[in-house]
Amino acid sequence: MTVDKNPKLIGSMFDRIAPSYDTLNTILSLGIDRLWRAKTIRSLDIHGNHLVLDIATGTGEMALRALGRDNCRVVGIDFSWNMLARARVKQARQNRDAHFFLIRGDALVMPFGDMTFDRAVISFGVRNVIDAGMFLSEAWRVLKKGGRMAVLEFSLPEVNPFKNLYLLYFSKVIPFLGGVISGDFAAYRYLRDSVIDFIPPRELERMMGRAGFAVVLSRPILFGVTHLYVLEKK
Ligand SMILES: C[S@@+](CC[C@H](N)C(=O)[O-])C[C@H]1O[C@@H](n2cnc3c(N)ncnc32)[C@H](O)[C@@H]1O
Repeated sequence: MTVDKNPKLIGSMFDRIAPSYDTLNTILSLGIDRLWRAKTIRSLDIHGNHLVLDIATGTGEMALRALGRDNCRVVGIDFSWNMLARARVKQARQNRDAHFFLIRGDALVMPFGDMTFDRAVISFGVRNVIDAGMFLSEAWRVLKKGGRMAVLEFSLPEVNPFKNLYLLYFSKVIPFLGGVISGDFAAYRYLRDSVIDFIPPRELERMMGRAGFAVVLSRPILFGVTHLYVLEKK
């Protein structure tokens, strides 16, 4: 299976589902995504005045969590206007404008200088870019030496009976429920296909190494429903 990740297509798909994105994440993950997100942010060890980049920030879920850590400043970048508009509404509620910046841009060619950020995070984003290797090199470029990046992404459980049960839920229930609630069946079929089609953890780790990162942690979460990678720029 080859999934079409044409940036125009992906951008307009996220523009369409932006209004129901957060609600659907909570429903489809039964609220568990909050735990995954909190774990990911903790793994970054954000402290002091760190400058943190949330790549493919979407509605700003990770950026807002990072913002709660110490006195850091957070930049969120995404190419979907509507996702960013939702993030902007949430940003206004936090009342921390001086610490949180949103930018429209492409994760593959980011408008930042080399070695700008102390920390970076990408959650449920790397699967969506058209070239994961190019993305990793770009993230490496904008991170400071010794800087850390956390990558949270869906994967597929490998052990039965959980594997079969999950595959049933993931390939039948999610596209149906997601389609009904968002009104966009194609987007939730894309979610299913893009996860099934995505690079498996061992291979992604090798790509991370080739991009110049040391993989300091690579761990399946909830029997492999998601996978957390913590990387350091050597
Ligand atoms: C599944 S959402 C994840 C959003 C958020 N990180 C989260 O954890 O909820 C994927 C996001 O990646 C963004 N995206 C995909 N490819 C991108 C690219 N090349 N540059 C910037 N944003 C991208 C989409 O617009 C979308 O907002």
